[in-house]
Amino acid sequence: MNIERAPEPTTTEPAGRDTRKVRVAVVFGGRSGEHSVSCATAAGVLRAIDRDAYDVVPVGITRDGRWVLAPDDPALLEGGRAEITADGAQVLVPFGDAPAPLVVAEPGEVPHQLGAVDVVLPLLHGPFGEDGTIQGLLEMAGTRYVGSGVLASAAAMDKHYMKIILAGQLLPVGPYTVITPRMWRTDKAAALDAVASLGFPVFVKPARAGSSLGISRVERPEDLEAAVLEAQRHDPKVVVEGAINGREIECAVLEGHGDDAPRTSVPGEIVLDTPAAGFYDYETKYLDTAPLTMAIPADLPEDVVARVQQLAGQAFEALGCEGLARVDFFYTDHGDVVINEVNTMPGFTPYSMYPALWEASGLPYPELIDELVSLALERSAGLR
Ligand SMILES: Nc1ncnc2c1ncn2[C@@H]1O[C@H](COP(=O)(O)OP(=O)(O)O)[C@@H](O)[C@H]1O
Ligand SMILES: [Mg+2]
Repeated sequence: MNIERAPEPTTTEPAGRDTRKVRVAVVFGGRSGEHSVSCATAAGVLRAIDRDAYDVVPVGITRDGRWVLAPDDPALLEGGRAEITADGAQVLVPFGDAPAPLVVAEPGEVPHQLGAVDVVLPLLHGPFGEDGTIQGLLEMAGTRYVGSGVLASAAAMDKHYMKIILAGQLLPVGPYTVITPRMWRTDKAAALDAVASLGFPVFVKPARAGSSLGISRVERPEDLEAAVLEAQRHDPKVVVEGAINGREIECAVLEGHGDDAPRTSVPGEIVLDTPAAGFYDYETKYLDTAPLTMAIPADLPEDVVARVQQLAGQAFEALGCEGLARVDFFYTDHGDVVINEVNTMPGFTPYSMYPALWEASGLPYPELIDELVSLALERSAGLR
C-alpha cells in the first residue's frame, strides 16, 4: 500500500453534526480468505447506514492490499463471491494529525483530497483486518475507528493467546495444545504426543484464520498429520483442541458508553439442520450450501443465559475489547459453559448472528451501526 503525506487539509474543523455530516469510511474486502464475506457485510452496511447522519466513503481493499475507492453500490458487493479490483481510484492513507484526510489518486493524476474522515468502519475479517494490523495503521494515522484496538484485535485473532489471556483471568476455556512451526520441524513426535494426550477426536486449527478455514475434526491419530499440514497452509502456528460435545451458543457484546459496563445481547444458538460436515464450516457459514438455523434467543435455562452473558462481558473486558465482539461458547452436555472464541469483527451482514442478536435484544441494525460509530467517535485516539 502506498502511504504518502497528504496535502494540507482544506477542512481542519473536526466534524460535528451541526457543521457537516460525520464522514465514515467503510473499509472492506482485504487480504484475508474472508474477502467476499467482508464485501457482503459492506453491502449490508451501505444499505442500512443513515445517510442523513453520515457521509459514506466506501473503500475497498484488493486481495493484494491496495486501497481503492469502491462504488457505493451494495448490489455489486453481495452474493458471497464479490471481488475488489484495482480499477477504482487509489486511496492513500496519510500519517498525520487527526482527523486524517483520505487522499485519492486517479492513475496518472496528482492525488486529491477526499476530505477528512471522522471515523473508519473496518468491516474486515481475519488476517490484515481483524488482527490488529489495520488498527495499527489507523492508530498511526490518528484516525478513529470502530471496534477493538491493536492488542485486543491481535489477541482475539490468535486462538493460542486468546486462551492464555482468558484462562489467566480464570475464564473457562477447553483443553488444547499448540504446535509451533519449529516444534513441527524439530520434534514432530513430541507434538503428536501432546495431541494424543488430549484424546481423540480433536479439532486442528490454524491459530489465526477464521470462518473455519483450514480447520478439521480428526477422529484418528493416523489422520492428524494431514490435518496439521492443512492448518499450516493458513497459519504456521497450529492449535489443537480436544473436541467438546455440546451446543454452540453465541452472545453479542457492545461496549458501554462512558463508564458503563459492556452490554450483552440475548444468547443465540447455531443449529445445524444436517450436521454432515460434523461441524460448522466455511461453506455452511457463508455459502448457503448446508442449511443451518440460528435459534434466537437460544432455548436455555435462565441461569445458563445469565452465565453466558456474564462470561461474554468478562471475556470482552479480559481481552480489552472495544466497540463490539461476539463471544462464542459451548454449552456442554455436562452443563458447563466454555468459551470457544471471541470475534472482534463478527459477521455483520443484516442476517448475521451479531446484528440478529441485537435486533432480538431491541437494537435494530441501522441503530446498531449508529451506536458503533458513536462509540468510536466518543473515544480518544492513542493510549486509552
Ligand atoms: N474444541 C471443539 N469442540 C467441538 N467443536 C469444535 C471445537 N472447535 C471448533 N469446533 C467446531 O468448529 C467450528 C469452527 O471453529 P472455530 O474455533 O469457531 O473457528 P473459526 O474461528 O474459524 O470460527 C465451531 O463453530 C464448532 O462447530
Ligand atoms: Mg467460530
